Amino acid sequence: MGSTSFQAPTGTRDFYPIELARRRYIERAWRAVSVRHGFEEIDGPTFESIDLYKAKSGEGIVSEIFHVHSGKDERSRAGAEQGGAREAPFALRPEFTPTLARMYASRAAQLPRPCKWFWQQSCFRAERPQRGRLREFMQWNCDIIGDGSPAADAEAIGVCVGLLEELGLTPEHVKVRFNHRGALAAVVSRLGVDEQHMPAAFVLLDRRDRLSDDDLEAMAFEFGITSFDFLRLLKRPRNAQGIDAMAAALPAEVARDAEALLEPLRTVESHLAGSGVGPWCSLDLNVARGLAYYTGMVFEVHEISGAMRAVAGGGRYDNLIETFGGPATPAVGFGMGDVVLSLVLQDKGLMPGDREIARALGLRPDVQVISNGSPESDALVPAVVGELRRAGVHARRSYKATKNIGKLLKEAADADARYAVIIESASEVTVKNLDDGTQVKAPRADLRAHLSPAR
Ligand code: HAM
Repeated sequence: MGSTSFQAPTGTRDFYPIELARRRYIERAWRAVSVRHGFEEIDGPTFESIDLYKAKSGEGIVSEIFHVHSGKDERSRAGAEQGGAREAPFALRPEFTPTLARMYASRAAQLPRPCKWFWQQSCFRAERPQRGRLREFMQWNCDIIGDGSPAADAEAIGVCVGLLEELGLTPEHVKVRFNHRGALAAVVSRLGVDEQHMPAAFVLLDRRDRLSDDDLEAMAFEFGITSFDFLRLLKRPRNAQGIDAMAAALPAEVARDAEALLEPLRTVESHLAGSGVGPWCSLDLNVARGLAYYTGMVFEVHEISGAMRAVAGGGRYDNLIETFGGPATPAVGFGMGDVVLSLVLQDKGLMPGDREIARALGLRPDVQVISNGSPESDALVPAVVGELRRAGVHARRSYKATKNIGKLLKEAADADARYAVIIESASEVTVKNLDDGTQVKAPRADLRAHLSPAR
């Protein structure tokens, strides 16, 4: 019979035990930091009505949607008959924010304000896979719903920074760059870009780091943006950061009013300083964000050299819940992916070794049970392992044929077991502490008393 070999689809990952342990290490930190900051976990479906994303997320993300057909409904059948996925009724979730807004909108009357929710699951985007960019990735979201204050903006950024700190990152490694869509829109409109072209202007500003001046200019003309002043702002030196540098980049007639226009940014900046995360954050006019629903403060976390895609991104979206049929409800939050975060941790030498990760996750074996090589002891191994496991002890045994105790002890040490228990007879065991090398002989009946609880 012939055989066919299969590979995981492009842009997806298989997680063997070590890789899954590394992912769990990150997920554990996400959950711990969320809980510490007072967020409660929620979840929603893996696929949603495609219209949920078409409503407000913007062209960028809609063009990356994985279409889902149930094969049972009319719209699905029609789409399949046309040989295309265009009319799929469902989409694999490319992000969580629309689901969260839909969930809040449908129970707004019963839910508290503010509502602080976190979520961590996989997302799917049909992007061209490259370093830091996959088609299936884990994402962590924290959102504060029902609080429109700049203090909530700073709190959202504060959780994100809390996670970075939890994993050993510092402002030397990563930077939070923030901006304000309101301020940006005010400046950009003063430069002659009308309301209709504003989303395109945000896209250009969002891509400024990745494109050359010529490409930016070509794209601007393609979008129908002809304002010379806006082009000048787009093409200003890439290293111009900070509120004052931004003000200096404005044409004279706008610069005169710069302080008033930049007022929302000053407010965000002072709240960030007040909440102790000031050293992590800097204003950056380039941060416009690709998603269409943001209305106020926006931010992204980047590795300091800016070489990779963002580790995290978010902002304020005050109209989304209302768009989905709920009452007017302000909201702010962010999403962080596991892919770029893992790369940054690895590049900075901050991803712990496999043994430390296993220990941190509580996967360290308590005991490796070893026979002293006599037939009587060999036969007792399953019974001793079984007794320990029933008592809640993480007990392992060797599956090797060797009777060499030295080799078996080495196997126990390689497995990072805390103790090796050598069965000497039906009634006696040797308990060897593999951390400090001490060992005692003990009656088998007293074995558990010789095992200290795992720390
Ligand atoms: P986003 O900027 O599209 O925002 O995604 C957030 C993070 O998810 C990115 O910074 C990146 O780390 C990760 N990510 C996105 N796409 C990929 C990909 N193809 N491969 C690997 N990682 C990826 C949102 O999704 C918003 N819904 C976040 C939000 C929550 N805003 C408010 N609340």
